[in-house]
Amino acid sequence: MLKKKSVKKAIIPVAGLGTRFLPLSKILPKELFPLVDKPVLQYIIEEALNSGIKEIIFVSREGKEMISEYFAGDNGALKEILKARKKDKILKELKDFEKIPQNISFSHYISFSEVFQEEPLGDGHAILQAKEEIKEEPVAVLFGDDVVISKVPCLKQLMKVFEKYQCPIISLYRVPKKRISSYGVVKAKKLENRIYKIKEIIEKPPAKRAPSNLAIVGKYILTPEIFKYLQKAKPSQKGEIILAECLEKMLKDGKEVLGYEFEGKWLECGDKEKWLKSHLYLTLKHPQFGKILKKELKKLT
Ligand code: UTP
Repeated sequence: MLKKKSVKKAIIPVAGLGTRFLPLSKILPKELFPLVDKPVLQYIIEEALNSGIKEIIFVSREGKEMISEYFAGDNGALKEILKARKKDKILKELKDFEKIPQNISFSHYISFSEVFQEEPLGDGHAILQAKEEIKEEPVAVLFGDDVVISKVPCLKQLMKVFEKYQCPIISLYRVPKKRISSYGVVKAKKLENRIYKIKEIIEKPPAKRAPSNLAIVGKYILTPEIFKYLQKAKPSQKGEIILAECLEKMLKDGKEVLGYEFEGKWLECGDKEKWLKSHLYLTLKHPQFGKILKKELKKLT
């Protein structure tokens, strides 16, 4: 019997243009926007590490150096100042932050030629850039703008399903029918509690034609086979290579792809409205800031 494989590496693509956040995203990567008191990306990295991931590979690009600086920057001088000013609480917070392990590597830049440097070619193309780091292993992919708040980290839940089935797993979330047309949606057959065999992936179907209300969230476990599909993929009309389209091609070729409806709350951070709602949701839940925000909102309404 073949030995079961487990997931040790995660790819986090953060090279997108973030046009839906312009003008702010001209300078500040959307992945560093705050959710209460830490950047969106920090939630995602913590999810990966709390799921047992040992190596994170970012796919970044020129102009987004701020991301690596945030996580890998040297805080020596700042710590000295905090010590001298006896700001012990803040110093402790900074030291806790530094405990995010050093095994996060920022070695990957989307290898565009000069012409394409400012034109990222899609999430699938970004993932393809990490092919050499992954080799023959299964890998998690966590998009830099999808946060899930849950008791058990979302990726850990997906990993449990992968342990059993050893095939690609897509994370799924139930969305009200009236909003379904903004998402990638699956046609699927239930196998067991929360686990689905995916039959088809349909991008942004009109509500009437949506085969389910299960939307795709940007968290996946993939097997090395995906790289063959990404390599062969033709750019879509928008000029991008899209992961979901490659997974759909795999399905058409008769490969098994499963979906998992995770337990937890999906906080989207891909555009201004979604980010604002996610930020308010988490702030209202925060032990310190929740009460303050409620009070302020009452004054305003
Ligand atoms: P999005 O689909 O939200 O695209 O990316 P985007 O380019 O960042 O944003 P908009 O549509 O222009 O507003 C989902 C994830 O994939 C990454 C993004 O950084 C984000 O984490 N991505 C996207 C890449 O790494 N490269 C790409 O070419 C596209």
